[in-house]
Amino acid sequence: MPAERTLHVADSTVIVFPDAAAASRAAADRIARVVAEAVPARGKAILGLATGATPERVYDDLAARVKAGSLSFRDVVSYNLDEYYPIQPLDPLSYRYYMHRNLFSRVDLAPNRAHVLDGTVPESAAADHAAEFDRWIEADGGLDVQLLGIGRNGHIGFNEPSELSPAEFAALPTRMVDLHPITKADAVREFGSAEAVIPRALTMGVRQILAARSIIMLATGPKKAPVVTQALKGPITASLPASLLRTVADKVVWLLDEPAAAELG
Ligand code: GLP
Repeated sequence: MPAERTLHVADSTVIVFPDAAAASRAAADRIARVVAEAVPARGKAILGLATGATPERVYDDLAARVKAGSLSFRDVVSYNLDEYYPIQPLDPLSYRYYMHRNLFSRVDLAPNRAHVLDGTVPESAAADHAAEFDRWIEADGGLDVQLLGIGRNGHIGFNEPSELSPAEFAALPTRMVDLHPITKADAVREFGSAEAVIPRALTMGVRQILAARSIIMLATGPKKAPVVTQALKGPITASLPASLLRTVADKVVWLLDEPAAAELG
């Protein structure tokens, strides 16, 4: 099997792997390395986690390392990117449930250190809840690493395309959002029908994501090729949220498989 190749697309570091399994393993390697460095240095590692189909293999890999005894989440604190609103944590479609299924139930992470935005807060309290989420991340010293996927419309977390200026967009805090039509169309896969898709969500803000000390963008499969190319080579614009990662390019790594990289040239 051919080895990975590293590209420099303008200021961005892009590593292309033969397949999604290899790209996911590289993401897990980097997360394990962050834990190994942050815990002795600061007593804990603060991980920003993502949902969606893409990171499932990363969580399988991290869970296997914990089972094998080469990694521990004992000193880890986690913050997830987003959650549908409103939704119950027991709902199998909630991101809390996804995290329980894919990671939290398989590793030694203390339940009170695994933060997922709460899809059950009353609507009148949602803004306070979102602001509190940002305060907790900051009180923990900020994210050591943020794992990201990319929506077909370029969203990161549920920060959807916007007409704001890049500077205004980069300052957005954690908040309630309306989902974009492409996001809702893609969510039919999980929800079963367009009518069943929950049209709103709570999302970590762009500000918090860009403030992470390191960022891993993982994108795999041919459907992501056009948006990955746009994000890396098109204009830096809030209409394609992931393009903002180029404003902090020195701390971002793009981990792609060959199909996702196919249009980079
Ligand atoms: C979802 C999530 C994002 C995720 C993206 C891509 O809606 N809110 O955090 O990165 O869309 O998902 P997938 O990996 O399933 O393509």
